[in-house]
Amino acid sequence: MIGIFDSGAGGLAASAEVRRLFEREDIIFLADRENAPYGTKTEDELLPLVKNDIRRLCELGAEKILIACCTASTVFPLLTEDEQRVCLPIIPPTVEAVGNSLRTAVIATERTVSSHAFQDSLRRLYPKIKVSEIRAQELVSLVEYGRRTRNLAAICRSEADELSEKIKRTGADTLILGCTHFAHLEAEFRIRLPDIKIINSAREGALALKKSLLPRDKGRATVRYI
Ligand code: DGL
Repeated sequence: MIGIFDSGAGGLAASAEVRRLFEREDIIFLADRENAPYGTKTEDELLPLVKNDIRRLCELGAEKILIACCTASTVFPLLTEDEQRVCLPIIPPTVEAVGNSLRTAVIATERTVSSHAFQDSLRRLYPKIKVSEIRAQELVSLVEYGRRTRNLAAICRSEADELSEKIKRTGADTLILGCTHFAHLEAEFRIRLPDIKIINSAREGALALKKSLLPRDKGRATVRYI
């Protein structure tokens, strides 16, 4: 069984991608709404929450867990070897999808930007790349609210406009949606930034999971939301 977790709606975007790729695999999705948002937490606050999510999913039978949250993935190096073995963090496959880029912009939560996890991984893989990390924590709660009220595009309009202007000013050729919540706004950013390559972390995480589990796709399927 595949486990997926996030603080909330970002994980839903990732589970939709996973569901598309694994039609016959059982999936269990955990949204830690009680402790949301993750992006405003310190590293010390975040680590026990992430460990708890992993433990709960393992207890419920998850054999492989997609950390469908860029913020939670920033503490992946601090997990034990056993926890790391069962989990797939979402930042590395997202960075690998960048390919040829002179300047990449990343929009992400407070914690993800403060950790520089994207900047460090991008520079490790592409030593000449220029990186602009942009804080967009406000957009997380707007996505949650917009989805709840089924009015996502309107609720997020002015924040998406403002962020898009900031992104244009960086001169980036590539944009990483470095928070899975923003995957719900992929189409909105594509309209505003037609000349920029957009990388959706939720999709890249699901594709990486597919690669890592390729031979296991089985013959039945259930999805549980907890
Ligand atoms: N969806 C999450 C991420 O990818 C975190 C959003 C939050 O809880 O602040 O970073």
